[in-house]
Amino acid sequence: MKKISNSIVSRLSTFLGKTRLPYFPSKITIESGNICNLRCPLCPTGQHDKSAKKGFMPFDLYKKILDEIGSHLSLIRLYNWGEPLLNKELLPMIRYAMKYGVEVKISTNLSLKLDDADIGELLQSGLKIIYISCNGTSKETYLRYHVGGDFDVVMDNMKRLVQKKKEMSRCKTKLVWLFHVFKHNEHEREQARKMAKDIGVKIKINKMRPDMGKEIFETTQSALQRDAGWIPENRKFMVGSEKKKKKRIACDLPWTETVINWDGAVLPCCAVYSETFAFGNIQKESFAQIWNNEMYISARKEILGKENKKKTICHICKSTGYLHSF
Ligand SMILES: C[S@@+](CC[C@H](N)C(=O)[O-])C[C@H]1O[C@@H](n2cnc3c(N)ncnc32)[C@H](O)[C@@H]1O
Ligand code: SF4
Ligand code: SF4
Repeated sequence: MKKISNSIVSRLSTFLGKTRLPYFPSKITIESGNICNLRCPLCPTGQHDKSAKKGFMPFDLYKKILDEIGSHLSLIRLYNWGEPLLNKELLPMIRYAMKYGVEVKISTNLSLKLDDADIGELLQSGLKIIYISCNGTSKETYLRYHVGGDFDVVMDNMKRLVQKKKEMSRCKTKLVWLFHVFKHNEHEREQARKMAKDIGVKIKINKMRPDMGKEIFETTQSALQRDAGWIPENRKFMVGSEKKKKKRIACDLPWTETVINWDGAVLPCCAVYSETFAFGNIQKESFAQIWNNEMYISARKEILGKENKKKTICHICKSTGYLHSF
C-alpha cells in the first residue's frame, strides 16, 4: 500500500511542479562500492579519477537507508561507479532488500573468477536482473574498452550463469548482456545478437556515453570533439546526439529518483561522480532531511525556472543543455 500511495503522490507532485515533496523516491541507486578491477577509458573509476574517495558501502549504512525508506522503494540499482561483485557483503545486501519487497538490479563486468558456488548464490539471492557489460564479441574488440578484463572469463561466466539458471527451476533472475556501441565495435552488433541467442541471454544494444565523468559539465558538441575516436559513425548510438524532447520538466530525476554513494553522499543522479556535488550525507542526517533540504529544493526550482538560493550540479547541467541520457 505504501508503495502504491507513494507512487500516486509522486506523480501528482511532479505534475504540479512541487519542490518540497511529501513522498520518497521509488527508485534508488545505492553504490555498493566504487572500486573496480578494470580500467574502462570513458569511466572515471577506470581513469582512477581522484575526485571521489574509494571504498565499499558498509552493511550497517545500507541497512540504515533501507530501514528508513525501504518500504517506499520499488527498485534498487545496487551499483554505480564500481564493480558490485567486489563488495563481499553484496549478497546479504540483496537479501535484505527482499525483506522490503524491493527489486534489485546489478550491472557487472563479470570479469572475475567465480566458482560454481558463487554463481549459484548470486542466482539464489533474488536479484531481478544481472546486466553483464561486455562491449565486444572478440578478445580484440572487448579489450579496447574493458581494459584489464578477460573476455574468455566473461564468456565462461555468462554461460555458467545460464546453465545454472536452467538447473534451478524457480530462479527468476534475468540475465542481460549489455553491449554499448562505440566506433570500434559498431560492426559487431549483429554478431553480438547472434552470440547472445546461442548462449541463451537477452541482449541490449545500448547507446554509448562520452566521458562519463565529464559529460555533465559540457555540451554534446565538446564531447563530440574530445571523444571523436570513440563515437560511432552511426550517431544514433551516442547519448545526447538525438533531438531533445521538449518536456515541461526538463529533468524529473530530483522528483523520482536518488543516488546514495558508498560513503553516504546523496546525489541527484548517477551521472555525477564527485562527492563535491553531494546534496547531503546519510551518515550525518536522515534521508527525509536531505530529500527536502535547501540543495534539493534549489535544484528542483532551477529546473522549473524558479528563483532559488543554492547553486547545485543541476544548475551546471542545465547551463550545458541538460544531460538527456535517461
Ligand atoms: C560505471 S558501470 C559500474 C558497473 C560495472 N562495473 C559495469 O561495468 O557493469 C555502470 C554502467 O555503466 C555502463 N557503461 C560503462 N561505460 C559506458 C559508456 N561509455 N557508455 C554507456 N554506458 C557505459 C556499464 O555497462 C554499466 O552498466
Ligand atoms: S565501467 Fe564498470 S567495469 Fe568499467 S571501469 Fe567503470 S566501473 Fe569498472
Ligand atoms: S538536471 Fe542533470 S544533474 Fe540534475 S538530476 Fe537531472 S541529469 Fe542529473
